[in-house]
Order: sequence, then C-alpha cells, then structure tokens
Amino acid sequence: MSDLGPVTWPPAPLRTERLVLRASEARDRPAFVELLASADVHTYLGGARSRDELERETPEVPERWPGSFVVEADGAMIGQLLLRRMTGDARPAAAGKVDLGYMLLPRAWGQGYAGEACAAALDWLTAALPGEPVVLHTQTANARSMRLAAKLGFTEVERFEAWDAEQWLGIWSQGRP
Ligand SMILES: CC(C)(COP(=O)(O)OP(=O)(O)OC[C@H]1O[C@@H](n2cnc3c(N)ncnc32)[C@H](O)[C@@H]1OP(=O)(O)O)[C@@H](O)C(=O)NCCC(=O)NCCS
Repeated sequence: MSDLGPVTWPPAPLRTERLVLRASEARDRPAFVELLASADVHTYLGGARSRDELERETPEVPERWPGSFVVEADGAMIGQLLLRRMTGDARPAAAGKVDLGYMLLPRAWGQGYAGEACAAALDWLTAALPGEPVVLHTQTANARSMRLAAKLGFTEVERFEAWDAEQWLGIWSQGRP
C-alpha cells in the first residue's frame, strides 16, 4: 500500500446523521487497542494481535495517515475506515487503485454504522479525487462484509484463493448507482 494521492489531509470532519469521520487523536488509543486485539473483528482478517504487544507498540496517536478515518458515534470511537492505494504486488485489477477497508468494534455491528460511514468516505473521495475508482477485498465467508460491499454498490471483479480462504475483489466507480 502507498500514498492515497493529492488529497488535503486531514479534511474537516465528515458528519453523517449519526457519525463523525475524522483523523485519529490521542484519545482514540484505547479503542484502537481494543479493535486490533479483538478476535471477533479479526475472524476473517488473519487473526488479532496480542493486547500486550499493542499496549507496548501503539503510538500515542495511532494510525494517523491520509486515508485513515476514525469512525465516531456519540463522542467515542467505534471503528476505523481505511482508504489506501494498492501497490504493484496487488491483483492486477486492483494494482494502483484505492482500496476501502473497514473495521468496527463488535458492539457497533448490526446498526448500519459501517454502511453510513463508508458512504460518507466514498463521497469524500469523490470530491477529493474525482473519477477515482475504489476496490474492496474481503473473504467470501465474511457474510457481513459481503452484504456491506453489495449495499455500497461494489460489483464483483473476481474470486481467488489466498491465505487458505476464498477472497472476493470488488470495484466501485463514481457516478454509478
Ligand atoms: C464488516 C463490518 C464492518 C460490517 O458491519 P455491519 O454492522 O454488519 O454493517 P452495516 O453497517 O452494513 O450494518 C448492516 C446491519 O445493520 C442493520 N441495521 C440496523 N439499523 C440500521 C440502519 N439504521 N441503517 C442500516 N442498517 C441498519 C441492518 O439490518 C444490517 O443487519 P444484518 O447484518 O443483521 O442484516 C463488521 O462486521 C466488522 O467490522 N467486521 C470485522 C472487520 C472485517 O471483517 N472487515 C472486512 C474486511 S475489510
């Protein structure tokens, strides 16, 4: 993964009906540790990291880079959205494209927050990088993620085997319903 491109970062916080998307701050550190140590969050992401290691190694302000949005509800971090440009070692259809990733704390699942946050991030990208398509990778076994990808308007490019599981690569283009 490499730089997102010529975007102004951080942008003014993105506000939706229930959420705020913003760059990370020092107060988000405990939620980042919780997110990255959660076995439930990492069921389809190759396994969680140990809490001890995260407590030692997480910087004071975690994950502060262009394209990393903290998702906040009721004043507290509930997850992270990631927009990253894929490098040359990606699948050919994804190489060089912006990739959307998402992780919410389990207590925030099932309330439509991920869909609301991703739609806002895609709107921001549309304004920041007009014409830029977005790709999305997920395991096909990750039913919640597959439903979210479809709801956001991603369409299948291919399925492939990697990391001992079937993976799904989808693409989203600006202006397409
Ligand atoms: C993938 C993930 C973000 C999906 O979260 P989610 O909460 O299921 O996703 P959505 O925001 O689309 O919410 C949809 C659900 O909210 C429900 N919902 C409740 N209120 C809602 C509302 N106001 N608006 C929309 N949906 C609502 C929907 O009915 C749906 O429920 P269902 O899953 O039982 O059908 C979450 O499971 C996660 O963080 N997983 C771990 C990380 C991961 O695997 N990431 C994928 C690879 S990048």
